[in-house]
Amino acid sequence: FRIGTPIEFPAGTTRILPERQVRIVSTDQGLAAMSLVCTHLGCIVGESPSGFLCPCHGSSFDPQGKVTGGPAPRPLRWLQVSQGADGALQVDATKEVSPDVYYRPMKIG
Ligand code: FES
Repeated sequence: FRIGTPIEFPAGTTRILPERQVRIVSTDQGLAAMSLVCTHLGCIVGESPSGFLCPCHGSSFDPQGKVTGGPAPRPLRWLQVSQGADGALQVDATKEVSPDVYYRPMKIG
């Protein structure tokens, strides 16, 4: 799915896209997308002082999505970010990447 143009995600910012259930992290190294879908039974996690918290059964995650408590069996998923021919950023929810993979957008147009 498309998330917008690189200019909408300046380095040093993070943005939650609630309708897409992802959190976009933008750094000097590029962009990454973390899924907010809990790996327990699929509820949507919310931000908490120590990272993320699942409202359903109380799983907690650190800011990188690693499990810090509760029944969640796996960390939150990081999803592949890429760019369309028109320069729009896109996230592929079917492609998981490791949390240290950042996509560096090309300036188009
Ligand atoms: Fe998140 Fe159960 S769905 S803890």
